[in-house]
Amino acid sequence: MKKTAKKSQASWGGRFSEGPSDLMLRFSESVSFDSLLAEFDVQGSVAHAKMLAKSGIITKTECARIVAGLEKILKRIKEGDFEWQTSLEDVHMNIEQALTKEVPEAAKLHTARSRNDQVATDMRLFFKFACAQIAEKLEKLLLALVDFADANRDVLIPGYTHMQRAQPVSAAHHILAWVEMFARDLERFRFVFEGANVCPLGSGAIAGTTLPIDRLESASILGFVDSESGDPIVTGNSMDAVADRDSFLEFSFACAVLGVHLSRVCEDVIIWNTSEFAFLWLPDTFTTGSSLMPQKKNPDAFELMRGKSAKLIGNLSALFALVKGLPMTYNRDLQEDKPPVFDSFNQTSICLDVLTACIGGMKFRREKCAAAVSDPMLLATDLADYFVMRGVPFRKAHHMVGELVALSEKTATPINELSDSDVFAVCDKADSSWRDVFNLARAFEMREKIGMPGRRQIAAQISAWRELLGGSKKAGKGKAK
Ligand code: ARG
Repeated sequence: MKKTAKKSQASWGGRFSEGPSDLMLRFSESVSFDSLLAEFDVQGSVAHAKMLAKSGIITKTECARIVAGLEKILKRIKEGDFEWQTSLEDVHMNIEQALTKEVPEAAKLHTARSRNDQVATDMRLFFKFACAQIAEKLEKLLLALVDFADANRDVLIPGYTHMQRAQPVSAAHHILAWVEMFARDLERFRFVFEGANVCPLGSGAIAGTTLPIDRLESASILGFVDSESGDPIVTGNSMDAVADRDSFLEFSFACAVLGVHLSRVCEDVIIWNTSEFAFLWLPDTFTTGSSLMPQKKNPDAFELMRGKSAKLIGNLSALFALVKGLPMTYNRDLQEDKPPVFDSFNQTSICLDVLTACIGGMKFRREKCAAAVSDPMLLATDLADYFVMRGVPFRKAHHMVGELVALSEKTATPINELSDSDVFAVCDKADSSWRDVFNLARAFEMREKIGMPGRRQIAAQISAWRELLGGSKKAGKGKAK
């Protein structure tokens, strides 16, 4: 095996007589994915330098030169004018080495700091950023859905259980069910944001430092503060601080749940879009054709979202498996914690953009919906309720209507067109008003209790959501509901 003869140049190389082999460098580098953390790494280093200066560990001039150098490097990175080197392992060492070349004082930057608390800090900054981004996209999606519900208040469709026609609902009620799911996602990301809002910097490699640092100062500068009091929030145990990966799990969980919600919504849309249902038109801009069948217009955007949700679930399982067997505290396995998180963030972000854009171009096919919802069987339960209101115990009323359903099927007569005598024979408490039950307007009029699909309920829900979503809220602040 080929060895690198020269003495290790790595920043940790003092006790080594040989540097890592090329294969080891290729195997162990993370800069190919963690360079994405550059902005947060620079923020963390700037705060650390300022704290070191304030605590008298470095001078104000040294600090100013370090900070200016870091800002210059970040600018270069953003402009694509920075050469990442895999031989320098990760984002932290790449930035620090480049800085030290320009600013010799930067050799003091890593005082009282380890990459273990550094990477933990970077990632917490990342999670706060990512949660805020996703929350913003979720708010846009929610508003688009509320508009879509509003525009389709008078479209009535069958609601389904077991994929069988169950009871009538409005398209708005169905869409508002999606709104409920995504609003819970918004809450979940706010929770993840709060969990990440705790500063681990100053925990060092495992046991802090003997140097006179001020952890509260670093936390304040980095914005790890209580949103109400403004007080800095820091981790309470230096070992947990470098071992903890809960935010990784929580963030990926929030993405996975959101992915499952997206997938279920897409499944509804795909079904509604089939020729068999034909409740919906999808926009040309988010559908694709077939290379062979000229008539095809496929709901690919929705299928892709349904497909991508699988990866979001996979990323969560990968993280659980990664963390499960690790002893305290930092172990290099943890370097593998970033790709699943970044992937979940990217996929979730684009899925939210796509669904929001699709919603704007979706249209209900009103005549098809009206035809489907005119099936009188959808109101069989309302007939049982009608019998109940006349004193029949529900179990018995259910059975009676069941007999009428069977009769309707046997005689191929719509249930609302059975004769009065057929109905009276089954329920002697009924009078000729039984047929009114099959009036759809009545069915919705009778469903005006909280959470039901009655028109006034839907109107109230829509304005409540508008009010809630109207005031722009940042992740970590305020409540979705
Ligand atoms: N690139 C490393 C990671 O992401 C940074 C921490 C390295 N710490 C260490 N003790 N080798 O985990």
